[in-house]
Amino acid sequence: MSEQSPPSRSRRPTTEQQPPKWREDFPFTAGGEDEVTRREFVRYLTLGSVGAAVGSVGLAGMTQLREPAERVATPIVELAEVPVAGSYLFRYPTEDDPAILIRPTEDEILGYSQRCTHLACVVYYEHDEQELICPCHSGHFDATDGRNVAGPPQRPLNAIDLDVRDGVVWALGGGGH
Ligand code: FES
Repeated sequence: MSEQSPPSRSRRPTTEQQPPKWREDFPFTAGGEDEVTRREFVRYLTLGSVGAAVGSVGLAGMTQLREPAERVATPIVELAEVPVAGSYLFRYPTEDDPAILIRPTEDEILGYSQRCTHLACVVYYEHDEQELICPCHSGHFDATDGRNVAGPPQRPLNAIDLDVRDGVVWALGGGGH
């Protein structure tokens, strides 16, 4: 009686043991994929933060280096057209800069940038209060000197130098941001 040898074990791995073909092309495990994703995420986060920081510094530098708008003497309006206790809106020093001229009394005129120093809404003149008021967040400025007196603004309005020449109000400088 012959002895039966045990069935030979094939050295060749079965289909279950063989890694699928796509594993050769994409040799990442699920855990490895997470790691790569985290690593990439951190890298993008770092690059994004550095990029934002560099951009902010660059923007701040450009703002500082930008030439201030040229303040040239500019005729604004005939004084007679500005009502006593009223105001007149104009643009100075550029067309992008809203400005306000106020006439608290017959002989007094004052000019300011109309941009609130909080978030740049435009202010209006309230004669009875002797204030320039920003409607956005209730910022108040003293009409006599532009001083911030109430609400969120931390700085006064930018004053505009005015002069009256032959009955015409001229802006001579100031204003803007
Ligand atoms: S923008 Fe004027 S108070 Fe805020």
